[in-house]
Amino acid sequence: MSEMVLVLDFGGQYKELIAQNVRGLGVYSEIKSGRTPVDEIRRLQPIGIILTGGPNSVYAPDSPSCDPELFRLGIPVLGICYGMQLMCHLLGGEVQPGEKGEYGRVPVRTLAEDSLLLQGIGSSFAALMSHRDAVKTLPQGFTTTAASPTCIAACENAAEKLYAVQFHPETKHTEHGREILRNFLYKVCGALGDYKLDDYIENQVREIREKVGSQSVLLALSGGVDSSVCASLLSKAIPGQLTCIFVDHGFMRQDEGDEIEAVFSKRDLRFIRINAQERFLAKITGVSEPEAKRKRIGTEFIRVFEEESAKLGQIPFLAQGTIYPDVVESGLTNGAVIKSHHNVGGLPENLAFSEIIEPLAGLFKDEVRILGRKLGLPVSLVTRQPFPGPGLAIRIMGEVTLAKLDTLSQADAIFREELAQSRKKPDQYFAVMTDTLSVGVKGDARTYEPVIALRAVITDDFMTCDYAPLSHRVLSKVAARLTSEISSVSRVVYDITSKPPGTVEWE
Ligand code: XMP
Repeated sequence: MSEMVLVLDFGGQYKELIAQNVRGLGVYSEIKSGRTPVDEIRRLQPIGIILTGGPNSVYAPDSPSCDPELFRLGIPVLGICYGMQLMCHLLGGEVQPGEKGEYGRVPVRTLAEDSLLLQGIGSSFAALMSHRDAVKTLPQGFTTTAASPTCIAACENAAEKLYAVQFHPETKHTEHGREILRNFLYKVCGALGDYKLDDYIENQVREIREKVGSQSVLLALSGGVDSSVCASLLSKAIPGQLTCIFVDHGFMRQDEGDEIEAVFSKRDLRFIRINAQERFLAKITGVSEPEAKRKRIGTEFIRVFEEESAKLGQIPFLAQGTIYPDVVESGLTNGAVIKSHHNVGGLPENLAFSEIIEPLAGLFKDEVRILGRKLGLPVSLVTRQPFPGPGLAIRIMGEVTLAKLDTLSQADAIFREELAQSRKKPDQYFAVMTDTLSVGVKGDARTYEPVIALRAVITDDFMTCDYAPLSHRVLSKVAARLTSEISSVSRVVYDITSKPPGTVEWE
């Protein structure tokens, strides 16, 4: 059993980032609701507790709170933002609404360089603040250890091992944020740093073997990172007992279906590829509205999967590539807005399987990628960009046809090829086929074809994003290649919308 740091969630948008940072620093971390009873916390025996931020005010009647007993367990606690305010409020300090609040990077002065939490940080640093309320009076036994121009930026009661920061050390916008978290883990909590992904693999392999025995397992393989890593882990644990059904709906990116087939045909599993483009295209012929496309493709996917799995006879176990953020999102009560995507791979609950296996349910996405590498998957697959379940069908505005699919997959491949060569790649980039027809001239002939739009974004979480400021040199080269290499492209535009108000996909 690894040491564990518990992240208690009060609705903060960075809860996963906190837990991810802690794991990245070598300490296993789990997220639970801020309302988790103290008895359960005792039972979990965390070596430290981190209270997240949150959108509420500690004085509001229904604001999330915790049992003050938490601060008397003798377990070190770090309160972040709302977590700091809650700690101070519950222990007798005073929190007040600020006049303007502080948002963005703010200079912070360290007042106590001997503070275990702030050791090695230096006398000043820039920190990400995002708050209106602030702690005005500290609880007894606490001292101020850092200050911003308008607020107490950090405080502590070292004797009780209680620490708090008004800023967000978990984001990369805070200088030395990682050192501060490292100090909390190793200097305050006395962590040994015993969390390793190799142990995760070994434990899962053992658990899967115990659970499955000599029976067989079925997996709907989409070729995305999660289902691919899931397939690799299962084939390592129970070689020869896994069947993967890869339903190729024909809306994948250029050569993607073949690449997936090439990778998994070599593994110790039974790989079944269903080429069903015709069938899927027929279902969305004449359909322009994106939600309708999504629904029809999703329903058809389930139908194909049911038909194919029925042919295989009774398989008791269904494996799914559920990852930790999916578990967190469905299990917490205080989370703010939860984004759910209807994946094509989302299977109905009434499928006749006696058990579901989710071997990645304890991992964050970055850990899933590392695990994929450790299991020998190619880099291209584990660093694959997010891709909508219905694929290119929702990157073609309006009705989808074979000809449009062909043009878009070529355009998308060229754009990705060009950006793949750049040193600093955007987090996601792809081509879209608009439903705007535009006049052009090619080789003295008039053309009247759809405009191709390029989309490239920079983001940490895909919930918000900025458009990527690609250089004109790169954009010109891509436009020149698209118009010269694809006969049906004569106009290219670049999307400079951030999210919000735009979304990443056009749909
Ligand atoms: P939007 O367009 O909502 O997209 O800003 C946010 C991120 O989600 C990806 N996306 C999907 N991912 N299944 C997925 O697994 C889907 O159906 C789906 N639709 C959108 C999108 O590419 C972006 O990264």
